[in-house]
Amino acid sequence: MEDIRRPDSMERITRPEQADAFIQEQVDLIRKQVGDKKVLLALSGGVDSSVCAAILIRAIGEQLVCVHVNHGLLRKGEPEQVIQVFREELGANLIYVDAVDRFLDKLAGVTDPEEKRHIIGNEFIEVFAKEARKLDGIEFLGQGTIWPDILESEAGIKAHHNAGGLPEDLKFELVEPVRILFKDEVRVVGKQLGLPDNMVYRQPFPGPGLGVRCPGAITRDRLEAVRESDAILREEFAKNGLEGKVWQYFTVVPDFKSTGIKDGKRTFNWPCIIRAINTTDVIEVTVEHLPADLIDHLVKRITTEVPGINRVLFDYTPKPPATVEYE
Ligand code: XMP
Repeated sequence: MEDIRRPDSMERITRPEQADAFIQEQVDLIRKQVGDKKVLLALSGGVDSSVCAAILIRAIGEQLVCVHVNHGLLRKGEPEQVIQVFREELGANLIYVDAVDRFLDKLAGVTDPEEKRHIIGNEFIEVFAKEARKLDGIEFLGQGTIWPDILESEAGIKAHHNAGGLPEDLKFELVEPVRILFKDEVRVVGKQLGLPDNMVYRQPFPGPGLGVRCPGAITRDRLEAVRESDAILREEFAKNGLEGKVWQYFTVVPDFKSTGIKDGKRTFNWPCIIRAINTTDVIEVTVEHLPADLIDHLVKRITTEVPGINRVLFDYTPKPPATVEYE
């Protein structure tokens, strides 16, 4: 499966009937490859792993074992949605692992951004490997690798780390049903498989999750402020027709405080930074200029509804000179 390549002649999948044909082709290929054996899949709830899971469920049903690791750095409602869509609606064999304390305890007091990323990556592999060892008869590993992952990895831009990291005793044969697809095609296929729009048209979300939006040492209260403010921002973007139009938008709660006033009393709380950007390649990024009434509304909601926030700032810096994320 490793060396399967996108044929030069392959037509871009844009229409439902093309997606149906692709799905049927992959279902046949998976059944042929896997037979009656079991496949393990780390299901984050992102577009690629979700579409990969949905194709595998259609092909082999309960022979697929999905593992969803909640590392405490997911957005509000994400673990619940993964359980609802995959376990309840698609009938998947889904193992939910609550690893929130394990991750947050390990990250406590760690300020260096690279060390934070390293801990999150390593813990993820350890938690996933622990679950894999509890299972019998797994011979395959499902992965939501997509075609740009292969191209970027070949060009030396990004290490294609999907397959990497698992210990030697857990080297499974790979099953990669969306491997030859571009991102827009993965979305068309996902839609056709019946996945919800807010899963299929989801904005990019970094692997270390909200951890990189809580700069410096992560504390549970500041992380909650990031999660709640992010949920408000997403809700308001959806209400104002910006969901799916703006490439990426999120909040950051930095580790410093300033004075404010609440109910006539002095407060000393964090600011919340809003960043909304557009791009095609994420190498150069422009800023989305928000309507003034939306700005006012966001300031009002976030300062009144999110504990610990007394000020809202807007980041209008393009990339370069700034990166998209803060760490
Ligand atoms: P930067 O901050 O490098 O981000 O300008 C560019 C894009 O990549 C996303 N990003 C990540 N995605 N793992 C990921 O899967 C990561 O560690 C990671 N860091 C940044 C970022 O959200 C943006 O879309």
